[in-house]
Amino acid sequence: MAAYDETKIRALGLNPQGIPKHVAIIMDGNGRWAKNRRLPRSAGHRAGTDRLRGIIRLSSDLGIASLTLYAFSTENWKRPSDEVGTLMGLLIEYFTNEIDELHENNVRIQIIGAYEGLPAGPRAAVERAMKRTEANTGLNLNIALNYGSRAELVRAVRVLSKKAVSGELLPQEIDEALLFDCLYTKGLPQLDLVIRTGGEMRLSNFMLLQAAYAELYFTDTYWPDFNEKKYIEALKEFQRRDRRYGTVK
Ligand code: FPP
Repeated sequence: MAAYDETKIRALGLNPQGIPKHVAIIMDGNGRWAKNRRLPRSAGHRAGTDRLRGIIRLSSDLGIASLTLYAFSTENWKRPSDEVGTLMGLLIEYFTNEIDELHENNVRIQIIGAYEGLPAGPRAAVERAMKRTEANTGLNLNIALNYGSRAELVRAVRVLSKKAVSGELLPQEIDEALLFDCLYTKGLPQLDLVIRTGGEMRLSNFMLLQAAYAELYFTDTYWPDFNEKKYIEALKEFQRRDRRYGTVK
């Protein structure tokens, strides 16, 4: 349920009937934000983490059902170890400091990605957060951790081929629905909108299958500067798009 009523949503310049069900964000540009300020990259990641509260809150208030955030990719392990350490530390801090407020706001935290591959500290923090919020019925907040779309697909193929080999499933019975049920996003609404901050125009191995019919929104704004006003601009642009799903109107 949206905390904002229709009048409030209209006052923001948005159509209450056209609110996307599922938004995903590639939060890029933390490093360049910091560099522009002659700060270490870690300061950019911290500023990026501070940005989450307002964006999550607004998503929840607008009645967006699912918000998926790309926090750490399978490729991010290749960054210098001190940067990986900073990001892991921020994860622990985030899930420790923000969990009370998220829980009070009825947010349900889920992880997409092979989070069992994280070091013990962040893994325990995310597991606690998932457990604590599992019965919540508000915004689904999906954090992509150790996530990569190709790895997700390989995992799905393994599950399905195992079933085929054991005779539980005939190969010809495998269809799109069964494949999508093997993705981390099982049960979530179809992805409507992907936002990428930081000026690059690519998906970087993020939700490639789920984004098949999503609208893509790219902005030069660095993630730490992506405030609620800019988020509303992205949602307005989404509402201007004509979604035809390959058909004609
Ligand atoms: C990309 O910026 C950003 C990341 C790889 C990390 C995103 C993580 C956060 C915003 C904080 C942690 C998240 C949670 C949920 C606590 P970049 O470093 O690639 O920026 P650059 O392209 O300017 O170098």
